[in-house]
Amino acid sequence: MGPAYQTPFAALIRREVPELAVMTVGMIDTPERAEGLLLNGDADLIALGRPLLGDPHWMWKAAVAMGVKPQSCLLMNAAPVPRRKVQKLRRP
Ligand SMILES: Cc1cc2nc3c(=O)[nH]c(=O)nc-3n(C[C@H](O)[C@H](O)[C@H](O)COP(=O)(O)O)c2cc1C
Repeated sequence: MGPAYQTPFAALIRREVPELAVMTVGMIDTPERAEGLLLNGDADLIALGRPLLGDPHWMWKAAVAMGVKPQSCLLMNAAPVPRRKVQKLRRP
């Protein structure tokens, strides 16, 4: 069992059922791997289990590592993600 070991299943479902948003989970160990899976079209969403148990600041650190300015929740039901990043992640 290696990094992103369950993602091939998610990618298969995503290809077969294009109208379905698909999340993947399982040893997604680095922000770069997570971003790569999204850009590769393997999944629409990334879930993290043990990485967040091990480090609750994982997401914050990932944002910094990827050049995104982290921002605390604004309690406005809006994701504090720059629009250009969201567009980059949209399906072709
Ligand atoms: C504490 C804990 C509880 C979990 N509970 C469930 C569960 O109730 N149902 C489920 O399908 N998977 C459960 N899982 C498995 C996770 O959804 C996930 O598939 C697995 O942890 C691999 O992802 P990760 O490497 O990001 O942790 C659990 C994992 C952990 C660590």
